[in-house]
Amino acid sequence: MFKVKDHYYNKAKDEKYLARSIYKLEEIDQRFKVLKSGDFVVDLGYFPGSWAQYTGPKVGPQGRVFGIDIQPINKKLQLPNATLFEKDIFELKGPEDLGSERAFDVVLSDMAPSTTGIKTVDQARSLDLVESVFNLLPILLRPGGNFVIKVFESQDAQNFLKNQKSRFNEVHYLRPKSTRSVSKEFFVIAKGFKA
Ligand SMILES: C[S@@+](CC[C@H](N)C(=O)[O-])C[C@H]1O[C@@H](n2cnc3c(N)ncnc32)[C@H](O)[C@@H]1O
Repeated sequence: MFKVKDHYYNKAKDEKYLARSIYKLEEIDQRFKVLKSGDFVVDLGYFPGSWAQYTGPKVGPQGRVFGIDIQPINKKLQLPNATLFEKDIFELKGPEDLGSERAFDVVLSDMAPSTTGIKTVDQARSLDLVESVFNLLPILLRPGGNFVIKVFESQDAQNFLKNQKSRFNEVHYLRPKSTRSVSKEFFVIAKGFKA
């Protein structure tokens, strides 16, 4: 059993972040430099909003964050350069649906499907979601843009990811230090999208 209120939970609370997931994106960005000032970023499955809390200041006043989640909008998340939407990402037809006149510089996805506790079902649901996000990239991500996505470990996921590598200049895998020890998740960090 993991301790629910662990070190990163307490740290996030002390630092007024909405979730402990902030430290995963922070580590990813420090290591792989996915975000920069002025970027337009779409944050898929943003709720409650700790990734947006990290991304908003990082992209600064010239940049923008567009957060989408199926959950009702989190009113506690107030950022001057972020816009939030209550929406299923599969309803998205393009950046213009979110009021962006151009494709995004960065696509972030920390989405997770609801889990059943049955390993094979959960792995398959997770992979469906991951595959669907990869399929959306041509309409969301600009050529040369960066992409971060959470994936649940499975052989099928590994096989799928191997086939996606050629769509980017570089692809990295990372299990951030703040990931709970029981979790099977890792992140794919893909840079330089080849449209
Ligand atoms: C782990 S949470 C994200 C935490 C967030 N990155 C943060 O730092 O606060 C995953 C989110 O994905 C959302 N999600 C799952 N499927 C989705 C879908 N099809 N469209 C939009 N959001 C979805 C869930 O509602 C959930 O809020």
